[in-house]
Amino acid sequence: MSTVRKATFEDLEAITEIYNDAIQKTVATFDTEPKSLEEQKAWFSHHDEKYPIIVAEEDDSIVGWASLSRWSDRCAYSDTAEISLYVRESHRGKGIGGKLINEIIDEGKRAHLHTVIARISEGNSMSIHLHESVGFRHIGVMKEVGRKFGRLIDVNLMQLVYDE
Ligand SMILES: CC(C)(COP(=O)(O)OP(=O)(O)OC[C@H]1O[C@@H](n2cnc3c(N)ncnc32)[C@H](O)[C@@H]1OP(=O)(O)O)[C@@H](O)C(=O)NCCC(=O)NCCS
Repeated sequence: MSTVRKATFEDLEAITEIYNDAIQKTVATFDTEPKSLEEQKAWFSHHDEKYPIIVAEEDDSIVGWASLSRWSDRCAYSDTAEISLYVRESHRGKGIGGKLINEIIDEGKRAHLHTVIARISEGNSMSIHLHESVGFRHIGVMKEVGRKFGRLIDVNLMQLVYDE
């Protein structure tokens, strides 16, 4: 049974390990080089009560994480966030992503965010399904904006507007 809680600085190594694995093996993220702990510390420091990071824990180990990150540093965008969601490869398909997305969306509501954007690479039907399940709607497709593993990749844009 996994439990979901707010991330702490001590979780950063595990968060980074899960993310770096996805960088190297998937097109879910358009990062192509593994992140260093230093880079991840900077990323962590840009999150707080309004832009939260949460983790899923099972048997005392971190098996997934989710975040709402500031969409833009231009102030008028301050109530808009972008969602990220990653589950350890060995633990996918067991409901952990579902728990994480429900909890991070609740966190965003508590933080009085107005809207959340998701950028989802083509073919990631599992992620699209999860986002639809918590109320995200399709708002467009950016054609061939990524190139990874030698191929061009479209990105689906999805959006949740709170209290719509
Ligand atoms: C996408 C990801 C976060 C989902 O987390 P997970 O723990 O594997 O997902 P869950 O087990 O909670 O839920 C999967 C859901 O997708 C459904 N599903 C499984 N395969 C599917 C498919 N091929 N198409 C559509 N839906 C699918 C399942 O039925 C389940 O839905 P349900 O709860 O309504 O039955 C995880 O697989 C992951 O980390 N993938 C790599 C990184 C990634 O893609 N991140 C998202 C970036 S946008």
